[in-house]
Amino acid sequence: MALYPLVRPLAFMLDAESAHRATIAALKLIPKRKPPDVPQSLQSTVAGLSFPSPVGLAAGFDKDAEVPEHLLGLGFGFVEVGTLTPRPQPGNSRPRLFRLPEDRAVINRLGFNNRGQAAALARLQRCGHGVIGVNIGANKDSADRIADYAGGVASMAPVARYLTINISSPNTPGLRGLQDEGALEELLAAVREARPAKRPPVFLKVAPDLDDGDAERIVRAAVDHGIDGLIVANTTVSRPPLKSRHSAEPGGLSGEPLKPLALEALRKFRSASGGEIPLIGVGGIASADDAWERIRAGASLVQLYTAMVYQGPGIARRIALGLAHRLEREGFASIADAVGSE
Ligand SMILES: Cc1cc2nc3c(=O)[nH]c(=O)nc-3n(C[C@H](O)[C@H](O)[C@H](O)COP(=O)(O)O)c2cc1C
Repeated sequence: MALYPLVRPLAFMLDAESAHRATIAALKLIPKRKPPDVPQSLQSTVAGLSFPSPVGLAAGFDKDAEVPEHLLGLGFGFVEVGTLTPRPQPGNSRPRLFRLPEDRAVINRLGFNNRGQAAALARLQRCGHGVIGVNIGANKDSADRIADYAGGVASMAPVARYLTINISSPNTPGLRGLQDEGALEELLAAVREARPAKRPPVFLKVAPDLDDGDAERIVRAAVDHGIDGLIVANTTVSRPPLKSRHSAEPGGLSGEPLKPLALEALRKFRSASGGEIPLIGVGGIASADDAWERIRAGASLVQLYTAMVYQGPGIARRIALGLAHRLEREGFASIADAVGSE
């Protein structure tokens, strides 16, 4: 893992998407490893699932479920594959992925490029016991997006330790409209019907770009329809001041500039829910302090993606050990005790 400072300049000579493909290819080459041991204090149960560490890999890195077990072996407590749509689709035209190194950020407008749910299903059937979540979406040209989600729940449930309903990508035109009142009710009712046995748990992933009252309304709908957790948040379409040359590219912004927005969104959801539904904090987390702040603000689990681009895969373990240290220092026996303690 100490290799990353040497590998990064090479990876950064490639365009961002080629570097990402090369990383997945390299991971496939190394033998799968057993996940490293982490302190017992990091273990927690959320939505009925046991997580060895609260630090997960966010959706979008391993869209096609090519290397989830390799990623668990690097020290992530859980890995979310996807977004997977029912049918394969190419996504938007290239270039569509940009590094913003001066801002420690990324802009992407990939548009759910993926090889479809059936292909991923076959790969996931061969996976072992780690916590692998499956993030599902709708095809861009779908005539009935709600049916795409219901179908995705039914078909991916057998291989998913949890499912994530992603209605917050900014790169499929109109998708975020499913967060609006009537559409959200209809969507969540269809999801509930597609999962009669209430297994696996279903999380809803929301955008950080919120209007007044959105958090309260989304929490209410989620609780009413038996959703098991909220992932706060996806990338932002807003543009805080940025320094890099790609900062005006359209798409979703992630990484450091997203951090204050994602934290504020998490606090809104925490105050709207009062702990009634578990929250998963994501957006700009790059250190143990960031993860700790998110847990104290109400997140039961955290996820990251962009910081791994800049710091390498050792980040999962570094943050996990840092969290264990903070638990001990502040006198908490477990992560669950620290959730929402700010
Ligand atoms: C290149 C890229 C692709 C992404 N693709 C997806 C996706 O397919 N589905 C999804 O729910 N989120 C996707 N995301 C959003 C991340 O899961 C995460 O919510 C967001 O990047 C904020 O976290 P971060 O600042 O740690 O990256 C993507 C992010 C990036 C940078």
